Amino acid sequence: MPAIVIIGAQWGDEGKGKATDLLGSRIDYVVKFNGGNNAGHTVVIGDQKYALHLLPSGILTEGVIPVISNGVVIDIEVLFDELEALTARGVDVSRLKVSANAHVITHYHRTLDKVTERFLGKKQIGTTGRGIGPTYADKINRVGIRIQDLFDENILRQKVEASLNQKNHLLVKIYNRRAITVDEIVDNLLSYAERLRPMVTDTALELHQALEAGKVVLFEGGQATMLDVDHGTYPYVTSSNATAGGAATGSGIGPGRIERVIGIVKAYTTRVGSGPFPTELFDESGEFLRSKGFEFGTTTGRPRRTGWYDAPIARYSARINGVTDFVMTKLDVLTGLKVIPVCVAYSVDGVRVEEVPVSQSDFHHAVPIYEEFPGWTEDLTEVRHFDDLPKNAQDYVLAIEAMSGSRVSAIGVGPGRDAIVVRHDLID
Ligand code: IMP
Repeated sequence: MPAIVIIGAQWGDEGKGKATDLLGSRIDYVVKFNGGNNAGHTVVIGDQKYALHLLPSGILTEGVIPVISNGVVIDIEVLFDELEALTARGVDVSRLKVSANAHVITHYHRTLDKVTERFLGKKQIGTTGRGIGPTYADKINRVGIRIQDLFDENILRQKVEASLNQKNHLLVKIYNRRAITVDEIVDNLLSYAERLRPMVTDTALELHQALEAGKVVLFEGGQATMLDVDHGTYPYVTSSNATAGGAATGSGIGPGRIERVIGIVKAYTTRVGSGPFPTELFDESGEFLRSKGFEFGTTTGRPRRTGWYDAPIARYSARINGVTDFVMTKLDVLTGLKVIPVCVAYSVDGVRVEEVPVSQSDFHHAVPIYEEFPGWTEDLTEVRHFDDLPKNAQDYVLAIEAMSGSRVSAIGVGPGRDAIVVRHDLID
C-alpha cells in the first residue's frame, strides 16, 4: 500500500486526525501538499494538547518523517514558531523535510490578504487573513518567492523587487497603506536562511525513493474538497487544490502511485467563512450542533456555520477525489436528536436535482430536500464495534453510505483518539 491520500470531503474541519491516528505506526512519511498556516488541527497525545497550523501532524509521531512539499505556501516565521514550541515541549523536530520549491508567504502577502478582503466588503471571502491567496496568486503570476531563493541573496533581491514594484503602487495608491521596502523583506527572509537550510531538500525525489523502497506515504490534504480552487464553491474557496489530485501536483509523485483515497466527512456539515451552504441551519438545531460539536475555528476562533449532512456533496467528493473509503467523524454529536434530517437532493427553482449543480447561481438557489431518520439517546463514546451501536445509529450510517458513493470504513464516536468504530481496515 504505497501512497494514501486523506482529504476533507466537505468544507473543512472534518477531523482528519482521527483517520491519521488509525493508520498510526504503519506510516513512514506524512506529507502536507497544499495550503499553509490557514489549516488548524489540535492533536491530543496523552495529557498534552498540540495546536498545529502549518506543520504536518506526523511531526508528533516518532519514526515518521514529516514533509512540507512544493504545493504548500510557507510563512517561515510561523514555521519556526511552531518548531520552537514543539522543541520546548521535548518533541524531536529534526526529521522535518521542506521542499526547495515551496513558495514563501511574506509580510506583503499577509497585508494584501487583509486589505483586499476589506475592499471586497459584503462580497468578502472570509479568508483566514494569513496571506494564503496572495501568495498563490504570485506563484501563478510567476512573481513568487520560493524557499530555494533564500539561499541566493542576489536572486532573492531581484525577485522581491519585481514582486514589490507593482504591489507598492497598489498598497499606496489604492489601499492607502505605506510602501514596503525590498530591504525589510529581504533582511527578514535571510535571517531564517541558515536555520532553514538543513531541512530543505528535493522532496519529490525523496518521496519517489521512499515509494520505490515500499515505504508507506500518507498525503494529508489541508482544507477540503468544497474549498478547492477548481472544484469547490468558487470564489468562496481557498487558493490551492485540496482534492486528491493536488497530492500528485503538490508533491511531485505520479498520480498512479495513489492507491487509497480516504475522504473524511462529519456526520453533519460545517463551514467557516462565506459562501453557499445549502443545509445551513439558523435555528436551535444549528446551535445544538455548534455547541455540542464544539464548532469553533482552530485557526481564527470563529464560530463555524453548521447544518445537516449533505449527501450530494459527499457523492460529489467521492467522484472528484476517487474516494475509496469514507471516515465519518463526530457521530456522537447527533446523540439526543429526535430526528436527523439528511439532504438527499436539491430543489433548484422547483426542479429536483440529484447532483451538485455546476452553475454557481443554481447552487446558491439550491434548497435541500430532506429525508428524516430517527435519532437515538444512548451514549456512543464507549462503543468500538459497529454491531454495538444503537440500531438507529447503524441505520443512519448505512443510509449515508448508500447515498454517498463509497463505503464508510470507520466512524468517530467521541473526542478521544481511540473513540472510533472500524468496519474496514484503511491499509491492507
Ligand atoms: P484562505 O484559505 O485563508 O484564503 O481562506 C479561504 C476560505 O477557506 C475561507 O472561507 C476560510 O474560512 C476557508 N478555510 C481556510 N482554511 C480552512 C480550514 O482549515 N478549515 C476550514 N476552512 C478553511
